[in-house]
Amino acid sequence: MTLILVGYMGSGKSSVGHNLAKILDYEYLDLDEYIKEKEDQSILDLFKSKGEIHFRRLESNYLNEILNKENSIVSLGGGTPCYGNNMEAINSSECISIYLRASVKTLTNRIYPERQQRPLVAHLEEVENLQEYVGKHLFERSQFYENADLTIDTDDLTIEQVAGNIVARLF
Ligand code: S3P
Repeated sequence: MTLILVGYMGSGKSSVGHNLAKILDYEYLDLDEYIKEKEDQSILDLFKSKGEIHFRRLESNYLNEILNKENSIVSLGGGTPCYGNNMEAINSSECISIYLRASVKTLTNRIYPERQQRPLVAHLEEVENLQEYVGKHLFERSQFYENADLTIDTDDLTIEQVAGNIVARLF
C-alpha cells in the first residue's frame, strides 16, 4: 500500500510521514527532498533561479516517478495537489491519499518561525500578513485537498496522535 500525505505548508506532512513509516515499517519519501536530490538544488534556490512555473513542472514529473512505490509513505509539497493534473494522477493511482487539515491559525503559527525557508512566504515579515496570506491561499487550495480519500483533523494533536488516527482509520 502507498499512503500519500497532502496538506498546506506546516500541516505536518513530513513529521507525520516519518512517524507513520516507523509505525508501519514502510519506506518514507518526501517529494521536496526527492526534487532537491534530483536537481541538486534547494527548493528556495530552484524558485529563485528558475521560477515557480519551472518548479511546478519538475514537481509534476517527479510526482509521477514516486507514485505507486509499494509499502511507502509519500509526503507531497503543499502546492502539489493544486497544479496540472496532479490530484487526478494521485486519485487514479493505487495510493490512498490523506489530507492533513489544520486551521489558518495553527498553520500560521507553525510556518512563521521558518518562513525564510519557504519561497512563497519568505517576504512576509509580519505575522498578521502571513495569517492573511495563509487564509486566502488555504481557501483556494482546500478544494484540491478535500479530494483526498481521507481527511484527518490535526489541530491540537501531536504527531503521534495524528499518525495513530490515520492507522486507526485505515487498518
Ligand atoms: C509549497 C510548499 C513546499 C514546497 C514549495 C512550495 C507550496 O512544501 O513544495 O515551497 O506551494 O505550498 P511543504 O508543504 O512541504 O513546505
